[in-house]
Amino acid sequence: MWQRSSLLLTLLFASVYHSDAWIYTISDTYVGQNFLETFQHIAIPDPTHGRTNYVDQLTAQYENLTFVDADSLILQTDFTNVVDPNSPGRNSVRIQSLKAYTTHAAIFDVRHIPEGCGTWPAIWETGPNWPSTGEVDIGHIKQSTLSSPSKSLVSMIFSHFSLIITTTTTYRLEGANNQSPSQSTLHTSPGCSMPPLGQADRTQSGRITQDTSSTDSFGREFNANGGGWYALERTPDDIRIWFWSRPDPSTPTAISSEAFTIDTSLWGTPIAHFPASISCDLNEHFGPNNIIIDIALCGDLASATFTDAGCGTDCATFVDQNPTAFIDAYFDIASIRVFEP
Ligand SMILES: *[C@@H]1O[C@H](CO)[C@@H](O)[C@H](O)[C@H]1NC(C)=O
Repeated sequence: MWQRSSLLLTLLFASVYHSDAWIYTISDTYVGQNFLETFQHIAIPDPTHGRTNYVDQLTAQYENLTFVDADSLILQTDFTNVVDPNSPGRNSVRIQSLKAYTTHAAIFDVRHIPEGCGTWPAIWETGPNWPSTGEVDIGHIKQSTLSSPSKSLVSMIFSHFSLIITTTTTYRLEGANNQSPSQSTLHTSPGCSMPPLGQADRTQSGRITQDTSSTDSFGREFNANGGGWYALERTPDDIRIWFWSRPDPSTPTAISSEAFTIDTSLWGTPIAHFPASISCDLNEHFGPNNIIIDIALCGDLASATFTDAGCGTDCATFVDQNPTAFIDAYFDIASIRVFEP
């Protein structure tokens, strides 16, 4: 009897403790050629109402918008053609992993993210039934994130790149217009609100509605440094995001050495931390998610910030008429490694 309750107690402690120390082993390594078999191109009308024409895989490879070699995946927008304003927009790509994940950690080793006015690149995760009847709504929800706290959303903007969490199924890292706004913002809703920093074990280095000093996690500075690593951990208890610039000496060895086993408790303070709490049950709101990488043009976020970013007044005309402005609108992804418990 004593043994049994002690075991129970141990289990109880183990399950309480693991949210701070979770060991994972590698389950999928996405690199080079295998992206073509493990991700699908999603050729859908631009769900964010922009000037993006997402093409299928054949077209993307034929036009060299999707290119792989042994150790890189390049995804880029068309940068040679002037676009007819009556067409759906500039050719671009959106890819989605065939596999979906629940509890996992993912390391995105990224050498270059798309730069330039009108671009809205994103790396994100969302539910496997996408696109389904809810697809347009996801686009709408993303838009509403920025303006309407009454939607069931949590969004956090880290300067140029942002993490947006919907209380249904989505979170994403994204940025727009090569912009480096100096604010991080948190929008919460009654359905899923987050405790203030310092409470409920919520610690992160990104500030809320305060100036941030780090500019190396996005845009030109990110690329000039040779990129870096974004890492994401999702458990039933927390969603955390980390970032290390390529030359950052504090990059965990397991990340830079591509270890098969990782321990996220050794990764230090995340740039963002969304703990589950009585006001936001992550289990209830998050199902299995696929990884998505896309480059949107104009669209809700980029259009809304286009002028502030010093890009001009009309995002759509800019995108249609200036192909050479998109020469640097590409992702160069060294690898994505996904770990599960
Ligand atoms: C396709 O794109 C890659 C990556 O940018 C580049 O290295 C290669 O030369 C391009 N191929 C052609 C035929 O343009």
